[in-house]
Amino acid sequence: MTDIPNTTQAPSATHPHPLVEMKNISISFGGIHAVDDASVDLYPGEVVALLGHNGAGKSTLIKVLSGAYRRDEGDILINGEPAEIRNPRDAKKFGIETIYQTLAVADNVDAAANLYLGRELRTKWGTLDDVAMEASTREVMGRLNPNFRRFKEPVKALSGGQRQSVAIARAILFDARILIMDEPTAALGPQETAQVGDLIKQLKREGIGIFLISHDIHDVFDLADRVFVMKNGKVVGHARTGDVTKDEVLGMIILGKVPPGAVPGPGAMKVA
Ligand SMILES: Nc1ncnc2c1ncn2[C@@H]1O[C@H](COP(=O)(O)OP(=O)(O)OP(=O)(O)O)[C@@H](O)[C@H]1O
Ligand SMILES: [Mg+2]
Repeated sequence: MTDIPNTTQAPSATHPHPLVEMKNISISFGGIHAVDDASVDLYPGEVVALLGHNGAGKSTLIKVLSGAYRRDEGDILINGEPAEIRNPRDAKKFGIETIYQTLAVADNVDAAANLYLGRELRTKWGTLDDVAMEASTREVMGRLNPNFRRFKEPVKALSGGQRQSVAIARAILFDARILIMDEPTAALGPQETAQVGDLIKQLKREGIGIFLISHDIHDVFDLADRVFVMKNGKVVGHARTGDVTKDEVLGMIILGKVPPGAVPGPGAMKVA
């Protein structure tokens, strides 16, 4: 069993429990260990990047948290309490929302309709309360993306970054406390990527914990408070971004080599 040594000074000083602890998670598909004894944690207002090459097991690990996959082994704790997450509905109950690269937005309707899709507000006469839905959409979107003005347009007319902010606003409206973003900028240009970065900083200020998954360190290093690196289903190690360089993290991703500023995990390269 591997426990995560507590190297986080700032968040752990103010929060007695991590928002999320995934401990010794394993999951296989037909004999292939997609995730093998992986442990990660996340504090409120923290951005934790999950890095690793294609096929390292990042999405699979996070799908255990979002309820898309059932783990074979390991424990999940939310706010220090054991959490049984059997399906996406369970995950939502714990305030866990996932934003996938392939955004689940409805293209032909506007931002408000997207935010309230499947949980529309109604007037006392049973008709759709468009006024209330648009007002709260403007409130939430205004917090996330103050420059957004395109409330009356179908979402398909928006830029990638703007669509991303609609998807995030929808999660916020669901009272997300834990946001999982799987390759959120993979399909975006540099300007839109910067916009998503601004959104993430705003979510941090609201105390939301964010798992940011990427196979490109350059997209996430500056945004992340800590990084966890996975390789062949195992956690190579984790570190505060202030304690390691980008090159050192690349060494973890490529070689499994853990630098002095990082904490080794079960997947660390063994030094002879
Ligand atoms: N549903 C599944 N059935 C069988 N194998 C799977 C399934 N999901 C994932 N795998 C395997 O598990 C391993 C980890 O995949 P995963 O998608 O978690 O990687 P990743 O780190 O997210 O990679 P990427 O950067 O490409 O998104 C891979 O070998 C993959 O083929
Ligand atoms: Mg993936």
